[in-house]
Amino acid sequence: MNDTTHNPAGRMAALRARLGGIGFGADYNPDQWPDATRAEDLALMARAGVTVVNLAIFAWARVEPARDAYDFGYFDRVMDDLAAHGITADLATMTAAPPPWLVTEHPEVLPVTADGTVLSPGGRQHFCPSSPIFRDRAARLVEAVATHYRDHPALGLWHVGNEYGCHVAECFCDASAADFRRWLSERYKSVDALNEAWSTDFWSQRYTSFDQVLPPRTAPTYPNPSQQLDFKRFGNDALLACFAAETAILRRITPDVPVTTNFLAGLKSVDMYDWAPAMDVLSLDSYPDPNWEQAHIGAAMSYDVIRCAGGGEPWLLTEQAPSAVNWRARNAAKSPGRMRLWSWQAVAQGADAIMYFQWRQSRGGAEKFHSGMVPHAGPETRVFREVADLGAELARVPELVGTRIRNRVALLTDWHSWWALELDSHPSDAVRHLDRALDHYAPLFDLGVGVDVVHPGADLSDYRLVIVPSLYLLSAEHGDKLSRFVADGGSLVVSFFSGIVDDCDRVHLGGYPGPLREALGVSVEEFWPADAGAVFPVRGPAEPGDVPPTGTGDLWREDVTLKGARVELEFAGAEWAGRPAATVHTHGAGIARYIATRPDAATMRGLIGRACADAGVEPVLPVLPRGVQASIRAGDGYDVLVVLNHTDATHEIDLPDDRRDLLTQDRAITRRITLAPRDVAVLGSLPTEPDTTPAPE
Ligand code: GAL
Repeated sequence: MNDTTHNPAGRMAALRARLGGIGFGADYNPDQWPDATRAEDLALMARAGVTVVNLAIFAWARVEPARDAYDFGYFDRVMDDLAAHGITADLATMTAAPPPWLVTEHPEVLPVTADGTVLSPGGRQHFCPSSPIFRDRAARLVEAVATHYRDHPALGLWHVGNEYGCHVAECFCDASAADFRRWLSERYKSVDALNEAWSTDFWSQRYTSFDQVLPPRTAPTYPNPSQQLDFKRFGNDALLACFAAETAILRRITPDVPVTTNFLAGLKSVDMYDWAPAMDVLSLDSYPDPNWEQAHIGAAMSYDVIRCAGGGEPWLLTEQAPSAVNWRARNAAKSPGRMRLWSWQAVAQGADAIMYFQWRQSRGGAEKFHSGMVPHAGPETRVFREVADLGAELARVPELVGTRIRNRVALLTDWHSWWALELDSHPSDAVRHLDRALDHYAPLFDLGVGVDVVHPGADLSDYRLVIVPSLYLLSAEHGDKLSRFVADGGSLVVSFFSGIVDDCDRVHLGGYPGPLREALGVSVEEFWPADAGAVFPVRGPAEPGDVPPTGTGDLWREDVTLKGARVELEFAGAEWAGRPAATVHTHGAGIARYIATRPDAATMRGLIGRACADAGVEPVLPVLPRGVQASIRAGDGYDVLVVLNHTDATHEIDLPDDRRDLLTQDRAITRRITLAPRDVAVLGSLPTEPDTTPAPE
């Protein structure tokens, strides 16, 4: 976004100074409760150590009960109360759920699905992002809210919209069609360029005017894939335009107040890398499923995404559940200690605030069975006690704020590739972006290696190892960059179905994986996706090492032709016996590996472990039991090591240096920690002794 007033560092310094430590709080919806409840809320917030709340996210109908009839009386009282109690408001722009009067007057603001279904009001996010009426009413509201609260002492941060794209990622109505055509004409300039990009000679789709182009609405068979991909890009941009329009108003009226919006972890529709430059601080909502055994690894990956999207700056965990959510088929509560552990995990990976959805568990409405910091049963409960204990604990480590993490491994991920990979009419519908990323992230997590999750366009010069997990869409330019990274001495691991198409979803010709063939020293002619449940034996390398001698692959196979690479893992089943399943190739000063199937977890760990060893990548701590995570956040002249025990066993862990235990009241010095199941240690470095060696004569 071209914004000359963009000064995130200055605005964030002001927010950090206000919060004075790791922010702690929740979505606060006092408007769902009688006035009298607020006094109790504020007393309990003091008990829990709350310093910041996300306020008024769904308050449009109350603040503008009729067109242009703004009524701030209620929230004035709430904001005054917050200020009086020293609590910062992350005040919402309130545009996430249009009020009934607006959709009654203008039903055309409602979103429409690909098959023409108009989505009714009654839930939330029921707006077409391209609707000029919605955008106009939202802009007026934001202008009014910002003007009204610009000087309010509680205001510390703006919360624009809410989880853009989480329910309505794209709209197929006529207003969206017109906006899509405008977007296409800006992107392609001429219809000929569009025809070329979309391969429209296929199935008689050649256009002679942009006016003929439609969104990829439900069609007799597969709509044009390049059109579908561009529509995903357009959907992302239409939502970003809504965000940017609100942000521009806020920056004009309150230039010193930082702006954020909360992303949802694992959400396909909005590209965090793309949005990040428009924000002062990145925020994430994270809801790992306590019933999923890899939940903490999935969460860890999303924390590495958000941190890296923000250029490595600290980010805010704006929502997590104190215990259960309400929106899965089965909603497990978090067992004792888990909420604390998972909160510290976010801090370990760069969060400077821990917040929940929501403060008080709702009495009515669709989310009444979603946990709150104050449960239905009240504050004398396990959940509230755990929450308040965590608030007290977080307050003990203000030195964590603003610190950064340095990793030597990059895992590449790209929303455009995600969108393209999961289109229809592919060799297999079972190759899913997030699953594939996790298949590569999990072994690194198990090996205790810190990872940055970055876009293929990112600066890779600081990394020793780059991992490319089924990155289907890869431009020739980014492919060349990866080849140079290897030639210059880097280590690369690439998995099957990477580097297949360009930005327009057109295949890189000459053998797969087009732009990476030379660096990898392999070429592939055909894909052999596996049936669900089919597994095939693989045999590890003859030389001793971490890769098990026998294992399995599933999901996919390729008949790889070696063009200089040697075999590191081979298929062992009858017909495929001896064919390469994973290869390694020296290219220039570096090493490039290719994996042509999905190996079982132990085999994958072995292969990734070898790549780490070749690259000289070390785990965060020399000895780290599986399931124990460690992360180091470094400040100016000091660092903080956070160690998290995700297992059900007690572990003793030796530290490479003496450290101060920042969670114990006496801040005892230790070199060995004992971590009970789900326990956490937060350990500060000791000041380095001044150098007293006499200077040479
Ligand atoms: C988030 C949303 C919140 C609340 C929460 C429940 O997606 O931003 O408003 O609905 O989920 O888990």
